[in-house]
Amino acid sequence: MNNNQSDDQIGRARVQDSPELQAYYKELETLGAGALWTVANDIEPWEPRSSSVPMLWKYDQLRDLVLKSSDLVTPEQAGRRVVYLVNDKRKDVSAAVGWLYTGIQVTRPGESTSAHKHKASALRFIMEGEGGYTVVDGNKITFEVNDFVITPNSAWHEHGVAENGKTCIWQDGLDIPLANALEANDYAVLDGKQQLNAPVNYSPITYGLSGLLVADKVWEKAYSPLFKFEWKKVYPALLETAEVNQINPFDGIIMQYSNPLTGGHVMQTMGASMQLLPANFKGKAHKHTGSFVYQCAKGSGHSIIDGKRYDWKERDIFCVPSWAWHEHHNNSETEDACLFSFNDLPVIEKLGFYQDKTYTENNGHQIIL
Ligand code: FE2
Ligand code: FE2
Repeated sequence: MNNNQSDDQIGRARVQDSPELQAYYKELETLGAGALWTVANDIEPWEPRSSSVPMLWKYDQLRDLVLKSSDLVTPEQAGRRVVYLVNDKRKDVSAAVGWLYTGIQVTRPGESTSAHKHKASALRFIMEGEGGYTVVDGNKITFEVNDFVITPNSAWHEHGVAENGKTCIWQDGLDIPLANALEANDYAVLDGKQQLNAPVNYSPITYGLSGLLVADKVWEKAYSPLFKFEWKKVYPALLETAEVNQINPFDGIIMQYSNPLTGGHVMQTMGASMQLLPANFKGKAHKHTGSFVYQCAKGSGHSIIDGKRYDWKERDIFCVPSWAWHEHHNNSETEDACLFSFNDLPVIEKLGFYQDKTYTENNGHQIIL
């Protein structure tokens, strides 16, 4: 806390308690009212305040339990067979961090879910397996490891794995807690599967060639018409971008998954990025508003979040709460590391809530507490 952030100054609530005031508060309470000065300093913090804590979920520890779910319940019974990751301080809203939900879903070869939709938006990042697919708005999309797929709000969607595929595991990210907080979520199930209304992979083929768009197509939805971003295109793009761009001191080479028609976020409530930390990268610390869930897509390293070190490697998932100091490091001298992340930045930005701060002491690196 800075000296100028003391609550003992004019402009902040600093009323001394008294028996007379206590009686007054009680009287107000009976009428469904209260005195603002009793809560003002708490509900209006000097700086953004998160009720989430940084957390790291180690895939080594979770993987067997995720697979075990496929022995215990069928997708039909569970609706969605998912192990969700919950923040120690956000259990009441089932959030991984802030107002974001995340989980790990497993689907065996030959299995498929029935179609459903919800007002919450969803995204997936593929962790392992072969032959997985999703159907979004009647468009069947196949995916591979490290591909990023969106199922925007109110789009019908279902998932499965081909008979001759291998068990698929992917990370789901949704804004369920946000949609619930705003009392705007809904859910609907389709009786059976969607009718396909386009050739397989229509969306990534039509909209996935950067800079080239089919000229006579009209797209009026508020989300990206490109539903899949393939790792086999994303990783080379990161490497080429690193050749001709300066390395961002906080994030290495970071690229946002974007709506090809607007250059903006892929969906209205959630954004996502892939970043490359070159070998030996030692990111500097900063903090900003917005909640972030990361998954290591390649390599290994560590992040220091609010003075605590979290070591991660491929498939580990961790979160950075809003306004938490954070810096990312690649521990390898020779290999690059890649971090996938998703966030609530579209909401934060649209509401005018974005702000950031650079860590200036100790050459920009936090001291581990
Ligand atoms: Fe869903
Ligand atoms: Fe950051």
